[in-house]
Amino acid sequence: MLIDPFERHVTYLRVSVTDRCDFRCVYCMSEHMSFLPKAELLTLEEVDRLCSAFVGLGVRKLRITGGEPLVRKGVIGLFESLGRHLQSGALDELTLTTNGSQLPRHAERLRAAGVRRVNISLDTRDPEKFARITRWGRLEQVMAGIDAARAAGLRIKINTVALRGVNDDEIEDLVAWCGAEGHDLTFIETMPLGEIDGDRTEQYLPLSMVRARLRKRWTLDESDHRTGGPARYVTVRETGQRLGFITPLTHNFCESCNRVRLTCTGTLYMCLGQEDAADLRTPLRKSESDEALVAAIHEAIGRKPKGHDFIIDRRHTRPALGRHMSVTGG
Ligand code: GTP
Ligand code: 5AD
Ligand code: SF4
Repeated sequence: MLIDPFERHVTYLRVSVTDRCDFRCVYCMSEHMSFLPKAELLTLEEVDRLCSAFVGLGVRKLRITGGEPLVRKGVIGLFESLGRHLQSGALDELTLTTNGSQLPRHAERLRAAGVRRVNISLDTRDPEKFARITRWGRLEQVMAGIDAARAAGLRIKINTVALRGVNDDEIEDLVAWCGAEGHDLTFIETMPLGEIDGDRTEQYLPLSMVRARLRKRWTLDESDHRTGGPARYVTVRETGQRLGFITPLTHNFCESCNRVRLTCTGTLYMCLGQEDAADLRTPLRKSESDEALVAAIHEAIGRKPKGHDFIIDRRHTRPALGRHMSVTGG
């Protein structure tokens, strides 16, 4: 079991398999990014070994992220291999967060590997706006990905970063659309990670305002539904739809944090909003036995910080952390 200094049990591992992405969302990346040379990445066999060590230590939920995880060559083989932990009962959930662009190719094999649910990022349903937000993404490709996921029998949660002046005019539409399509929907407050070209202060939209707006049209009943992630849910009484809110800025949820993050080079970050990290690649490569690795994981969890201290306001024009979201997959 992995228990941190604040008595929180770490049962959720997020694993970034690449820092690369086929999009460049304006709130996530700058237009010109330098990505890691491929030679620096862990092999997928090494990623598997790391994940399996965490499963052996009590992790029950694995989420593969990126960048865009589905642009990493061979990643489906990783899902297929990790699926053994679902079959043995050691793992409750194997899943991914994706921009959806590669789902038409991969949805069926993901489902066959044991994935039951995918989180797909979608900030707008307007094709031109979509191209502006992602810098060159095509909405129809992502819509085809969503369709492919549904056809493969995957449950879908849409992730929408709420951005003032960008997609705030579409909040009600997104709720209505997801309700009609049967997708869950989660709104996210933009977080100050990594240099981007625009101004996060201007785009920051507190989700308290989004809720207040939605209440004018729907009745939102508090729900005790939990996925083991940071979202807090309501049910839309009129439609029965589930709506989540991820509010790192307006309502910190660190007290119940159960997760840590592994990068594609084998660095473990103990908190999305702090620099505390541990190198797991060295103990991984040092020996074929997991002894040193397990010791390094325990040592790292023993240093998990209490929480993030993100702020977005006029006096903070620089990001809280230089690291981009794509390094740890959010
Ligand atoms: P579910 O399993 O569906 O609950 O997913 P999830 O919310 O755990 O994962 P997802 O990848 O969909 O993340 C949604 C958003 O939550 C992303 O913007 C993440 O960066 C953010 N997020 C996830 N975990 C944390 C966290 O510990 N702290 C903060 N501040 N944000 C987080
Ligand atoms: N703030 C909040 N969410 C972000 N994401 C990417 N960058 C940020 C940011 N700076 C979201 C993506 C995706 C999830 C993994 O993180 O839209 O849904
Ligand atoms: Fe890629 Fe997701 Fe970042 Fe957009 S938010 S650039 S899709 S990693």
